[in-house]
This record gives sequence, structure tokens and C-alpha cells, in this order.
Amino acid sequence: MEKIKVKNSGPIELTSKGDVERGNLFIGEEMKNVPFDIKRFYVMRDFDKVPTDSTRGEHAHKKLEQCIFCLNGSFTLHLDDSTTKQDIVMSASNSQSATGIRLGAKLWHSMKNFSKDCVILVVANDYYDETDYIRDYNEFLSYVNK
Ligand code: TYD
Repeated sequence: MEKIKVKNSGPIELTSKGDVERGNLFIGEEMKNVPFDIKRFYVMRDFDKVPTDSTRGEHAHKKLEQCIFCLNGSFTLHLDDSTTKQDIVMSASNSQSATGIRLGAKLWHSMKNFSKDCVILVVANDYYDETDYIRDYNEFLSYVNK
């Protein structure tokens, strides 16, 4: 995976047991690989049923900390800390590693270019709370730079 340049982000390396002949086992633990206590997870899949130009995300969070993992297939993750923007191709094709990405607070993010077999896992440090979302890009810029 390319180097992450945006703020409030970074690679999240899961531990692999490496015994691929038995099926690959990847492990993430709170306060170890994942830099927070995990209160919620959610999964995105079934992209074979969506138009090829579909996008998810397009928001930032005020406080929520998350990590995103591509469990199968691939997609493009767009990150924007208000000064630096970056597009990262997330792919599960390298079976020897499972690198996720930290989606810290105050980081605008969106997902697109989903392969039909794409499966995404997100772990979060808090329950769903709509008041923590910033869904307007200009509001995001003023929130981050205030
Ligand atoms: P949202 O986070 O807006 O997804 P995206 O930004 O990819 O479009 O979530 C879509 C809907 O699902 C929205 O109505 C909020 C709801 N939702 C929950 O109720 N709980 C959750 O944990 C998540 C992630 C979403």
C-alpha cells in the first residue's frame, strides 16, 4: 500500500498467522493493532448490485475513530484532511497481509470503484450517532480550520 500522507490516518497492520494452507487467519485487537476500544463494527458488501459509479461515505466525523479493512476484492478510498487529499487503492489480493487504514476524526472520506466481490469491514470506537457526522464539505472545512 502507498504511504499515507493525510493527517489523522495511517496503516493498520493485522497479525497474520501465515499458515495459508489451512486458510489465512488475520487478527486485530483493541489497543494493539487497532488504536482504540472497539464498540461497533459494520460490513459493506453486495456491490454486484450497485451501479459502477456508486460512492459511499462522503462525510467526516467530529470525534469518531474508525479503521477500515478490505476483506475481499478492491475499492478506492479517498481521504482529505482539508489540506492534503489522497486516493488509496485498497485490495485484498495480497493474501500475506491485511493492511487497513485508520479513519480518524476530522478526516473527510469516501469510497468508490468497488469490485463486484468487494467486502469492507469497518470497526469503530463508538455507537452510531448522526450528530457526530459532518456531511457537508464546506462545513467540514470550517470545522477543521476553526
Ligand atoms: P452512512 O454512514 O451515511 O453510510 P454512507 O456514508 O456510506 O452512505 O450510513 C447509511 C445509513 O445507515 C444512515 O441512515 C445511517 C445508518 N447507519 C446506522 O444506523 N448505523 C451504523 O452503524 C451506520 C454505519 C449507518
